[in-house]
Amino acid sequence: MTLKDKKVVIIGGSSGMGLAIAKAAVAEQAKVVIAGRSPQKLEDALAEIEDNVLVYPVDITDMASLQGFFQREGEIDHLVIAGGFVKWGGFKEMPVEDAIAAMNSKFFGQYRAIQAATVCPGGSITLFSGVLSRRPKVGTAAVTAVNAAVEGLGQALAVELAPVRVNVIAPGLVKTPAYSAMPDGERQAMYESAAKALPVGYVGEPEDIAAVALMLMTNPYITGTVIDVDGGSRLVQ
Ligand SMILES: NC(=O)c1ccc[n+]([C@@H]2O[C@H](COP(=O)([O-])OP(=O)(O)OC[C@H]3O[C@@H](n4cnc5c(N)ncnc54)[C@H](OP(=O)(O)O)[C@@H]3O)[C@@H](O)[C@H]2O)c1
Repeated sequence: MTLKDKKVVIIGGSSGMGLAIAKAAVAEQAKVVIAGRSPQKLEDALAEIEDNVLVYPVDITDMASLQGFFQREGEIDHLVIAGGFVKWGGFKEMPVEDAIAAMNSKFFGQYRAIQAATVCPGGSITLFSGVLSRRPKVGTAAVTAVNAAVEGLGQALAVELAPVRVNVIAPGLVKTPAYSAMPDGERQAMYESAAKALPVGYVGEPEDIAAVALMLMTNPYITGTVIDVDGGSRLVQ
């Protein structure tokens, strides 16, 4: 199975792992549509990729926005959802409203997008969780719960939406703009310390995840999986 002339929608495709997936799919001659909230980020992504890509503003916390988007797109071959808000914080200290907002964005955002989309039989849906689903740390209860919920959703939908295939990518730490708000020194220190601890000896790049996302789109025998792409993080951290 190839991606040539396949219609691939990537929500969260204007940054980080989603953008790397968009570039890799375009390189395989797919027709790619990138969606996200910020018109500026979408324009920047369009300028970076140029050919065989369209961009469209969508907010996964807003069902009407998703319905309008997918009505316009019609039937698609592959859907990737690589975005959503998460919040870290001590369980006792973090307001429950922040945990609800994270669940509403990252978990229900993916849930809504799949409900609104029409994916053709034999096509695929790829969701994003994260290593914390099964390797929690102090201060990550809400993110851990959101990621675990995404993994449960992916497996349930692999059964219910068949013959559409549904899989989940669980990344470890990956160098993306998600960390751009951190001071440079702090971010570098985090990457260096993570790299030392990881069996692979380096922190993941968005392209590492894109390679797996393309494999999930094109391998017809994979569904209902959660694939850890984390440099071995869950074994050592
Ligand atoms: N980077 C890591 O170390 C890491 C580790 C574990 C798991 N993950 C997970 O992997 C996924 C991708 O992360 P990333 O690091 O590549 O993120 P990123 O670089 O921050 O990109 C996130 C993308 O999602 C879009 N987005 C965010 N909220 C949205 C919303 N409500 N509606 C539509 N689009 C939205 C963003 O565009 P707009 O802001 O313009 O909407 C952007 O295109 C996320 O689910 C993240 O939780 C990341």
